[in-house]
Amino acid sequence: MIETDFLVIGSGIAGLTFSLKVSNHGKVMIITKKEKAESNTNYAQGGIAAVMSPLDSFDSHIQDTLISGDGLCKREVVEEIIKTAPIRVKELIELGVQFSKSEDGKDYDLGKEGGHTHRRVLHATDFTGREIEQALLTAVSNNKNIEIHENFIAIDLATENGQCIGCYVLNKEDSEVVEICAKITVLATGGIGKVYLFTSNPDIASGDGVAMAYRAGASIANMEFVQFHPTCLYHPYAKSFLISEALRGEGAILLDNSGNRFMEKYHELKELAPRDIVARAIDNELKKSGDDCVFLDLSFKDSDFIRKRFPNIYKTCLSFGIDMTKQPIPVIPAAHYACGGVKTTTSGETDIKNLYAIGEVACTGLHGANRLASNSLLEALVCAHNAANKCIEQIKKGIGFCEVISWIPNSTVDSDEMVVVSFNWEEVRRLMWNYVGIVRTDKRLLRAKRRIKNLQEEIAQFYRDFKINSDLIELRNIADVAEIIINSALLRKESRGLHYTLDYPEKSNEPSDTLIRIRARNNQKK
Ligand code: FAD
Ligand code: SIN
Repeated sequence: MIETDFLVIGSGIAGLTFSLKVSNHGKVMIITKKEKAESNTNYAQGGIAAVMSPLDSFDSHIQDTLISGDGLCKREVVEEIIKTAPIRVKELIELGVQFSKSEDGKDYDLGKEGGHTHRRVLHATDFTGREIEQALLTAVSNNKNIEIHENFIAIDLATENGQCIGCYVLNKEDSEVVEICAKITVLATGGIGKVYLFTSNPDIASGDGVAMAYRAGASIANMEFVQFHPTCLYHPYAKSFLISEALRGEGAILLDNSGNRFMEKYHELKELAPRDIVARAIDNELKKSGDDCVFLDLSFKDSDFIRKRFPNIYKTCLSFGIDMTKQPIPVIPAAHYACGGVKTTTSGETDIKNLYAIGEVACTGLHGANRLASNSLLEALVCAHNAANKCIEQIKKGIGFCEVISWIPNSTVDSDEMVVVSFNWEEVRRLMWNYVGIVRTDKRLLRAKRRIKNLQEEIAQFYRDFKINSDLIELRNIADVAEIIINSALLRKESRGLHYTLDYPEKSNEPSDTLIRIRARNNQKK
């Protein structure tokens, strides 16, 4: 049994920022299920939104966020996060993050993305996430109060009398389960993209935090709002590669297979309309034409500019034989971001005592029904700071350790049926793509619900019969997250933001959050 003051699950921007901020107040243990840099954060391209120019204003950033959120953002949350953004971003800069500067090197080169009425996106060319992740990891590695364990995958939260007391974790290197007792446990586990067949997210994004919190009895909010990024690279060998919205911010246009621009039919802001509108427009064009993809064209811009501003996208496209300085890039929408998540305050408090959730795993009310581009890194940064302050207060008041009951394995038999596990992975992801995608109907949602229930029964059987491993842990999680998304979508009898259903195409006059909560399942093996 391991004891730590702060157990942080996840090493993206949220988990690392939190860890650094609490590190003077106790022992911090970060666990992360692969190599430490492997996170959604590491792949962020466009940047981080904050008001940094005298030409911009908080009011404008707030307004853009509210419009994008389509009536479901919590205004006080939006105001709080946006008004503290510049302070938190300056801390990142002090930590060593080098954002791109203008030609004369005096000001930051601010990018533009869909739904933003001003240039306000700080970026490090199109490697923004990697720049932030590396700066945070360097600071963590120089901090003697923080331990980081790679290849440790959290299985389930340990709870007692309605409070979180730690976590069960599989050490992937020796396949042993360890019990970690923590005064405070922080979910910073990121997104859910892998629940869908096509996604911009890396493999780590299997919704583990949402699934664990759900099984522990926490409230989960607004999971029907899955954001589909309009432009991911379409190529048989390109897995999960995003073509940043910043291209459209620099003037890139969307074309159909015959070279016709189509966004003007859908929104006055054309390619820079909010993301839900652009993704739906592409989906509609593809359904009408039967084509496999549409095209994003920036080739009319100066090629030196393209290579300098988008070195990552340029090189990756070129490796697939696409020269974006000369030709349009084939693109399709793909699952990108969870606007919903574990319901929290802006300080990461969940409705389970001593359990916090920050970053993409959380639902604070900032994004409403559709996140404004580049507001996600921002939310993670601000809420990690706030959560750290809240947890320091809690620790100072005094929290004791509670013993986590030992894990008793259900079986010691290694599964000889891993192939079935991968079939089930594929089935969940395909049915979510086909039935719970950009355009929904009750009939398709109900069909998905029945299939997920069957799959969950099979997965539970695997859990009982075989020795636990990371594929099985993630499979159970994507199935649980799929169930939550489907149930949330069935509860919303309207079309709003990212949730569009042919059965209820109008918006309701009284929008509200969807909340999903179960009585905690008994996760502790006795
Ligand atoms: P992550 O950075 O995803 O970190 C999650 C961590 O949790 C990882 O270390 C993971 O290994 C770990 N983990 C997960 N489950 C477990 C488990 N069971 N046990 C142990 N560890 C676990 N947002 C913006 O604002 N601007 C952008 O430009 C932008 N571009 C993006 C581009 C791409 C390609 C993608 C995928 C996302 C982008 N986003 C962007 C979204 C943004 O990157 C994420 O929302 C944000 O980085 C999430 O940070 P996080 O710390 O919450 O989670
Ligand atoms: C992008 O660069 O298009 C992603 C930005 C985001 O998801 O906020």
